[in-house]
Amino acid sequence: MIISGKELSTQMKADMAVRVSGFPERFGRVPHLVVILVGDDPGSLSYVRGKSKACDVVGIRNTTICRPADLPETELLSLIRELNEDAGVDGILVQLPLPAHIDEAKVIGAIAQDKDVDGFHPLNVAALWQKQPCVRPCTPEGIIRMLKSAGVEIRGKRAVVVGRSNIVGLPVAKLLLDENATVTVAHSRTVDLAAVTRQAEILVVAVGRPKFVTADMVAPGAVVIDVGVNRDPETGRLCGDVDFESIEPKASFITPVPGGVGPMTIACLMENTIGCFLRHQA
Ligand code: GUN
Repeated sequence: MIISGKELSTQMKADMAVRVSGFPERFGRVPHLVVILVGDDPGSLSYVRGKSKACDVVGIRNTTICRPADLPETELLSLIRELNEDAGVDGILVQLPLPAHIDEAKVIGAIAQDKDVDGFHPLNVAALWQKQPCVRPCTPEGIIRMLKSAGVEIRGKRAVVVGRSNIVGLPVAKLLLDENATVTVAHSRTVDLAAVTRQAEILVVAVGRPKFVTADMVAPGAVVIDVGVNRDPETGRLCGDVDFESIEPKASFITPVPGGVGPMTIACLMENTIGCFLRHQA
């Protein structure tokens, strides 16, 4: 069974569009998301286009600010400060990765916590790990929503997350723990990775390497969530971190690339933007 993130995200966006259509009357305006893109990484460009299309569908005002790859860090920080102080801006997203000369942690920490639609600010990360109310990071939240929509019971399951990034691996491990899964986080230094992934009833892969997970690494009946967005070096086509063709017949559920986790990330970003907007109205 294929879990379609595209279908689920389309439904979420339609529901949000109805909510947002009532905002001008209730609040005098619609939510406003500002996306900052530094440089011209092709992957980032396509994500940013996807975000702006989704904003149009939902009725969220969106501004994309593009800056050259050699933008000095100080200028990026002062741009963020301006947006922090602008009462007409509800959400600020700095597209990652940033060019090497810019300190990512410093930039993320400079975003006002109440405008951090990614949930990457250290205070939001701390709140997540302490089970306090927080902005939940979009990709991990999208993954949990997909599992639930497919009717997958998470409680008590053995979940293996491959990848330990701040954006996906670590927070999705925490969200799975909060759903009462037993969670293992594996990574590039894990010894006998295949033996670990074969234990997984729920396998989440976020390593950024095309078709990294092969059929021999997956237990029959596993639920496989593929977070990767890569170019297949052989065909040039978009592919995930798991070898879809060989794993799909073996898995009970699997997410496709494209049309899986990606659209869910964007739908959750829309929800986070609406959440920040509503807190700004309170
Ligand atoms: N780059 C890849 N995924 C993300 C994301 O969810 N947020 C941001 N800001 N950058 C990303």
